[in-house]
Amino acid sequence: MAARIINGNEVSQQMKDEMKDEVVGLKGKGVEPCLAVILVGDDPASKVYVSNKKKACEYIGIRSLETVLPADATTDQLLGVIDGYNKDKSVHGILCQLPLPKHIPETKILRSILPEKDVDCFHPYNVGLISIGEVRFLPCTPAGCLELIKRGGFTTSGADVVILGRSNIVGRPLSNMLDQRNMNATVMMCHTKTKNLKEKCLGADIIIAAMGQPEFLKGDMVKEGVVVIDVGINRVEAPGTERGWKLVGDVDFEAVKEKAAAITPVPGGVGPMTIAMLMKNTLTAAKEAHGLL
Ligand code: GUN
Repeated sequence: MAARIINGNEVSQQMKDEMKDEVVGLKGKGVEPCLAVILVGDDPASKVYVSNKKKACEYIGIRSLETVLPADATTDQLLGVIDGYNKDKSVHGILCQLPLPKHIPETKILRSILPEKDVDCFHPYNVGLISIGEVRFLPCTPAGCLELIKRGGFTTSGADVVILGRSNIVGRPLSNMLDQRNMNATVMMCHTKTKNLKEKCLGADIIIAAMGQPEFLKGDMVKEGVVVIDVGINRVEAPGTERGWKLVGDVDFEAVKEKAAAITPVPGGVGPMTIAMLMKNTLTAAKEAHGLL
């Protein structure tokens, strides 16, 4: 059986169109959602992310503000910018683009963003809310994975889900979300010290690969009919191609797709979903700020 490909570009476009309609309604009630993005330095990949976020805001009708600080900006300078956005009632969401330059302490910065404006859902307060099932925001990449499963026509209820990788950004929050009462999955969180990984993967109804190892999940590690969500983005050498490299996920796509019921591609799978989820969190923040939730 060849897998159905769950197209993240299509799903995220559909979500953006839904949000565009929602924003028209919010503006009718006098609410203009606003996202502030802070970029420190001139990392080319970060610049691309920030510009994509801006484009998505424009498309949906969200006001977007941007502050760019030089790579040698001090921690206090950055804290000052965040403080300004924290105090500005017209700003609903604040995102500080990562990675930060090495001399700036990431943890301190992320914790200085007011939890009610923390649209990345990186603040320990919001992470804690998820683990007790009281959700305000959902972290963007994990939420994107779950939306692809849902809109791909699958349910997590009762499913045995294997998560590969225990990062704070993807694996751990996903595990936290999946065994909540609205998701009802049985979760197995696997990592570098996990025994008999192949057997565990073979038992899974859904596998979410997020460990950052190119094409790690092979065809002989999955059962027929599995649903596979690939979070990996790895640049590997590709001799003979124009650029000399290509992007691959954490899944051996060609082999796994022969057995899976559905699979997400890289690129064009989870990637585009992250921004759609960020936009959704921004709308949530705006609605909460105006007592509309
Ligand atoms: N850098 C790469 N992805 C992200 C993200 O989702 N949020 C932030 N703040 N920085 C990033």
